Amino acid sequence: MDKVLLYLLKKKDFVSGEEISENLSISRTAVWKHMKMAKENGFEIESVAGKGYRIKKFPPDRLISELIYSEFSDIPCEIIYLKEVDSTNDYAKRNIANLNDRDYLIITDKQTKGRGRFDRVWESSEGKDLTFSLILHPAIEIKYFYNFTIMASLAVYETLKFLPENEKLKIKWPNDLYYENKKLCGILSEMISEEAILKSLIIGVGINVNSISRLQNAISLHEITGKELDRHLLLSSFLKNFYHFYSGKKEWEKIFAEWKKNLKNLGEIVKFRVHENTITGKFIDVSSDGTIVIETDSETLSFYSGEFLS
Ligand code: BTN
Repeated sequence: MDKVLLYLLKKKDFVSGEEISENLSISRTAVWKHMKMAKENGFEIESVAGKGYRIKKFPPDRLISELIYSEFSDIPCEIIYLKEVDSTNDYAKRNIANLNDRDYLIITDKQTKGRGRFDRVWESSEGKDLTFSLILHPAIEIKYFYNFTIMASLAVYETLKFLPENEKLKIKWPNDLYYENKKLCGILSEMISEEAILKSLIIGVGINVNSISRLQNAISLHEITGKELDRHLLLSSFLKNFYHFYSGKKEWEKIFAEWKKNLKNLGEIVKFRVHENTITGKFIDVSSDGTIVIETDSETLSFYSGEFLS
């Protein structure tokens, strides 16, 4: 994170080089170097004699970690910005051993090999959508794995509640977000475990924000609202919601109840695929370990993985 940029962002007005250098305990030459780097990264910085520096324009279609920090200064994770990467989940997996044991948020403007569940491709548009992964170290038993994906999907749900006719927004088990039967967000959670302990967790989130959907069953926030949305605001809102849950400020029972209340297809006749089999029955319940219960004509079945086809 560039602390000089963050300082300028927070001030929102002209700041003298002297003030920056004194407050951040760095030399005037260092301040100048930071400004030079910001300009190289596409920022337009105004510098006026006697007044100092001011950010005039942000680089278009580019995520800026400092803007996320300036929206939510107590973010309990470090942010790594990548201009381009194969997949933020794969980057997290490759680098987790070399990172310290803090939480990390890996964000990118361009994913070239985005992955979804069941090895599907996750498509996103450069500079338009949100693709990120959170690295967490819950050090808890594996059986709680679903708790975190439930928290993540509810955090996205809370973030997107501003949408018009938000009763159309639903969580599709286990953790996709749909708006009127069209997919808006997908989550891919992966874990690194040791014995029965969930050592680290990588929660990858893809949200269609300002792109035009190419798939028939997908939709973006832009297509719903007709507006260009600020990806920084969405991200900081997601982080606030997620950490509110993850830090234990909201009781698990309440999180689970809200998640369940907004589940798609609960109580309906569904088609559900597990491995090669498709089952038709009534989706009657889901328990707090994430297991779903489907009642067919002949039996009541429980599943921990698989996918709804409707
Ligand atoms: C799904 O719907 O099957 C899950 C999609 C998850 C996509 C996100 S985008 C960020 C992170 N990196 C990936 O390669 N995948 C996840």
